[in-house]
Amino acid sequence: MPAVLGIAPNVRRASAGTIADAARRIAKGGLVAIPTETVYGLAANALDERALARVFAVKGRPEFNPLIIHVLDAAEAKKFAVFTSAAERLTEVFWPGPLTLVLARRPDCPIPLLANAGLPSIALRAPAHPVAKAVLKAASVPVAAPSANSSGALSPTTAQHVAADLGGKIDLILDGGPCPIGLESTVVDARKSPARILRPGAVTQKQLEAVLGEPVAGGKGSKIESPGQLDRHYAPRTRLRLNARARKPGEVRIGFGAIGGDFNLSARGDLTEAAANFFAMLRLADAKGAKAISIAPIPNKGLGAAINDRLRRAAKG
Ligand code: TXA
Ligand code: MG
Repeated sequence: MPAVLGIAPNVRRASAGTIADAARRIAKGGLVAIPTETVYGLAANALDERALARVFAVKGRPEFNPLIIHVLDAAEAKKFAVFTSAAERLTEVFWPGPLTLVLARRPDCPIPLLANAGLPSIALRAPAHPVAKAVLKAASVPVAAPSANSSGALSPTTAQHVAADLGGKIDLILDGGPCPIGLESTVVDARKSPARILRPGAVTQKQLEAVLGEPVAGGKGSKIESPGQLDRHYAPRTRLRLNARARKPGEVRIGFGAIGGDFNLSARGDLTEAAANFFAMLRLADAKGAKAISIAPIPNKGLGAAINDRLRRAAKG
């Protein structure tokens, strides 16, 4: 396809052909920026740990912030989450649309824990944008999509915003014009009553209360909770010994690079691979019931800082 002057070469106008190409790339583990009715999302196959790890790396997130999983409809969402009656009613009225529900992960949920930052919950949304819907349908996988911006930057509402920020780092940007909503979705914890707004958005507290027929906590002006600050992230039962260069008797060991162990986050010392393996290996090590888990030093650069941040929190708990 010819590059258009003045536009980064990986920006493509959404059409039947480019949508099919985007879906193929996502299914195969690539990263594609797609328009949604709220903001542009950085879309990745939610079943692919390496693709998820790349999302964190590309955004430069200082920690593993959990991602929203995008699905076609409530029937698909029920494969991943336990639906409450509030979830049933809210999805009937507001899906597809700018509402994200935080629900309990199903025990058999196939989405890697990395997507949820190790939390027992999962955030789900069915977007209404025709391009996002077409991509989801063609990719046939659940799609993790945080806003397509570097950590700390403003959310992008045009393909050009994405190109200026992440252009060279991702596989493709689908241009569907400016996002109609331009503000991220409302995030609601619908696990128990009363439902709670974690992030205010286009769907208002009043609208939610009208559908549920009862008060909803939080809303405009309420403090946005960062799961990282809540200390509700995964912490193993077994004591952790960090920056451990050697194994002590009775310990199970997680290695990195040349420093091996019972598990190795990445034998070739690749931090993206290590991030992808992190939550799963910590769980496996925990299940060994050892005296302690000793963890090899992880370089504190790139995703290593995120891994060390999670390790420090886990060691405290
Ligand atoms: O409108 C949107 O929601 C856009 C478009 C692309 O869909 N996406 C978006 O993603 O804004 P992101 O990653 O920028 O924001 C996700 C928000 C964060 O505040 C995150 O903490 C919260 O959702 N979140 C995700 N999973 C969660 C969970 N399991 N529990 C609590 N909060 C969660
Ligand atoms: Mg964001």
